[in-house]
Amino acid sequence: MDRFSKYVKEMFEWNEEMRDFLESEKVGEESELWGKLNGFTEMMEGLGHPLSDLDLLNLQTKADTIQQEMEEYFKRKQVIGDIWMMGTSLPAGGHTLPDLPYPYQALEPYISEEIMKIHHDVHHRAYVDGLNKAELSIKKAREENDFSLINYWTRELAFHGSGHYLHTIFWKNMIPQGTVGPHGSLITEINSYFSSFELFQKHFSEVANRIQGNGWALLVWSPRSRHLEILQAENHHFFTQWDTIPILVLDVWEHAYYLQYKNNRKQYIENWWKLINWNDVELRFEKASELKWQEF
Ligand SMILES: [Fe+2]
Repeated sequence: MDRFSKYVKEMFEWNEEMRDFLESEKVGEESELWGKLNGFTEMMEGLGHPLSDLDLLNLQTKADTIQQEMEEYFKRKQVIGDIWMMGTSLPAGGHTLPDLPYPYQALEPYISEEIMKIHHDVHHRAYVDGLNKAELSIKKAREENDFSLINYWTRELAFHGSGHYLHTIFWKNMIPQGTVGPHGSLITEINSYFSSFELFQKHFSEVANRIQGNGWALLVWSPRSRHLEILQAENHHFFTQWDTIPILVLDVWEHAYYLQYKNNRKQYIENWWKLINWNDVELRFEKASELKWQEF
């Protein structure tokens, strides 16, 4: 069975599971969710053979949307306990390489099949493997209470983690031939912050073009300033794992402790633990953990 037939088969199974789940949760038939799922079922049943790339992308986008809406729905209902749709968390070392959402040659002539094959199958896979290895090594360090190599593994965690997460976003940011857009609140935001779409595009391209050596250009949302921003990442990390949200942070710049502790950073860190406002940390965690992407 080829990759796409396998995907469609999985979608059928997923659709069945969703129906069973809504029934077991006694979600009323009048609920919007049933409407959406019925629409999805109809779409699945109406699919022609063989499937076009566009059919598959539609399928995937619809399934993602329904899944997210289900999460929202159950969150609002405050169902007690964790339901699986709230997203099981990945164990250390549990990352997998996501399939490309389209065939290797689908982005031609702009990006060649050869590039896509190597980029996805070799490079992205190496990040997934590296991230799993880093997570497992760090877990082992905790278990054995041996942190002698923790700097090395934390750097690996950032490098491979950012590599994996950014590529996972990158593949889905693209689609053969592109779509018309942006629309809605995104274009409103772009126009209001960057003055116009043309200026945004120019700014983004300049940022990408001027990255020294390897790296990424990123359009990000800043929850603090509540506006978009365009950033550069050299390589992909420099100790950052992109696509994560800080919950608890400790400043160990010398200006943060030197006047009082001199070179005794260790003492400063030890004392710092006596000052934590866990209410604040919990709040940040609550808010941040509301954001969930499909796990890979
Ligand atoms: Fe890459």
